[in-house]
Formats: sequence, structure tokens, C-alpha cells
Amino acid sequence: MRTLTLITLLCLLIGAQNCGKTDYRQGKALYTQHCANCHLEHGKGLGILIPPLANSDWLKNNQDQITCVIRNGMEGPVVVNDTTYNQVMPANIELTDFQITNLTNYINHAWGNDYGVAKLEDIREQFESCR
Ligand code: HEC
Repeated sequence: MRTLTLITLLCLLIGAQNCGKTDYRQGKALYTQHCANCHLEHGKGLGILIPPLANSDWLKNNQDQITCVIRNGMEGPVVVNDTTYNQVMPANIELTDFQITNLTNYINHAWGNDYGVAKLEDIREQFESCR
């Protein structure tokens, strides 16, 4: 109880906006490094070439496939928010299950998305199945 009060006080003192919220810092850094080239910083994608991640119904409805998409890439037609995309997304074979968890949590909560918290154990299970 006392610790909580102390944290609240500290938050007030430093005026931090993110106190009490997780900002998925590692996920964001990984996104900038591995994804923002195409899906762009704001996650809106690029015209008819790159699908959006911000407000993507595909991302929302396919949380059980996200690890394999990040790890192995994607090709062939995919429908996102009623638009069909048909390009190639490259694989990210060097990313660990831990990094993919952080990355997924970042994109699930960035840009107004609210697609739930990905647990390491679930991501690890997907990771094993799509090697
Ligand atoms: C070289 C460009 C490129 C990079 C880099 C890239 N993507 Fe993609 N991504 C695409 C394309 C193109 C598609 C659609 C593939 C298709 O048509 O089958 C896609 C599809 C997706 C989808 C499914 C559709 C959607 O919009 O919801 C997700 C999720 C996704 N990417 C996440 C990521 C993440 C996370 C990263 C970083 C690890 C990443 N992408 C890096 C180009 C890219």
C-alpha cells in the first residue's frame, strides 16, 4: 500500500503521462526497426500496396496467426478492412518469441488499437508451430 502511494507521488512529481500505463517500449523500437519501413510510423500502410495495422480488422481477428506472419512473412491475397492486398511481406526469422510478444503488444495497443494483451506462452506456442 505504501509503495503504491509512493509510486503515485513520484508520478505526480515527474508529471509522467504514462504512469499506470504500459508503453511497450521494446515493441515500439522493434516496430521502428523492422516494420515501419512499410507499414509506416502511424501504422496506416501505403495505398493499395501495404495494408494498415492501425484499425486493421485482420489483425484484430487473427491474433492466433500473428506470430507466423511476423516470423515467416506473408504472401497471396489478404483482405484488410474490405480491401484486398496481394504483395509480399518478408520474413523476420531473427526475431525471438520474446521480441515477437513485445512487438505484438505494441501493435495491438498503438494508434488507438485495443486488440488485447498477447501472452508470451501463447506466442511461444505459435512460434513452435510455424518454424
Ligand atoms: C517490406 C514491407 C513490409 C515490412 C517490412 C513488413 N510488412 Fe507486414 N505486410 C506487408 C505486406 C505487403 C502485407 C500484405 C501481404 C499480402 O498481400 O499477403 C503485410 C501484411 C501484414 C499483416 C496482416 C495484414 C494486416 O494489415 O493486418 C500484419 C499483421 C503485418 N503485416 C505486420 C507486420 C509487422 C509487425 C512487421 C514488422 C515485424 C511487418 N509487418 C513488416 C509488408 C511489410
